[in-house]
Amino acid sequence: MTPLFETERLIVRSWIPELDAEQAFEIYSDPEVTHFLGNASRVTTIESQRQRLIENIERSRRRKNGTGSWAILEKETITIVGTILLKPLPDKDGLATQDYEVGWHLRRTYWGKGYATEAGRGMLNYGFSILNLPVIYAVVKPENHASIRVTQRLSMKPMGRTKKYYGIELLLFQHDAPEKGSGE
Ligand SMILES: CC(C)(COP(=O)(O)OP(=O)(O)OC[C@H]1O[C@@H](n2cnc3c(N)ncnc32)[C@H](O)[C@@H]1OP(=O)(O)O)[C@@H](O)C(=O)NCCC(=O)NCCS
Repeated sequence: MTPLFETERLIVRSWIPELDAEQAFEIYSDPEVTHFLGNASRVTTIESQRQRLIENIERSRRRKNGTGSWAILEKETITIVGTILLKPLPDKDGLATQDYEVGWHLRRTYWGKGYATEAGRGMLNYGFSILNLPVIYAVVKPENHASIRVTQRLSMKPMGRTKKYYGIELLLFQHDAPEKGSGE
């Protein structure tokens, strides 16, 4: 399978439900990982995790705009260390808006290595250079300090609180597309 992109230490590729469900389950059955992600992200069996991966892939396919959610693999061990996503932000009713968010979830044992920042930087590049998005957002629960620090390392601009997305109050961060020819 061709990766979506590679970074120095990581490979970002599509999820393969048959192959990846067990590793995805190890990540998403951990309450420390799902703590800020809401109940919907919690899974109780490998089979429901596999179903979740299949549904996500189908949903991305239907959007037909290159957005989705991908597996992050550590090159050195070929272990799945998390998820990186770029997708339309949902409004309070769950309907897609015109705004796009980047998001990151890492396996607990891989926190503290800079992998979310590295994958996030690759995802922003992809969104700007391949999808030609003019701006990419991140939304974070105000108590999720680790995630706020990722937005800072990615030089995303803090825009204050918003209730526009997911039907809850979240901190909004924004990254504008680099000027064409700026070499960023
Ligand atoms: C949010 C989350 C992805 C952040 O993970 P993280 O490991 O702290 O973030 P990064 O991958 O960017 O790593 C940065 C940390 O690695 C350290 N680090 C080590 N080597 C590094 C390197 N080469 N480059 C950058 N940072 C490095 C940094 O110092 C930093 O640690 P610190 O915050 O203690 O100073 C993680 O906490 C998570 O998966 N949470 C659960 C899911 C979630 O809430 N997602 C966000 C929803 S909005």
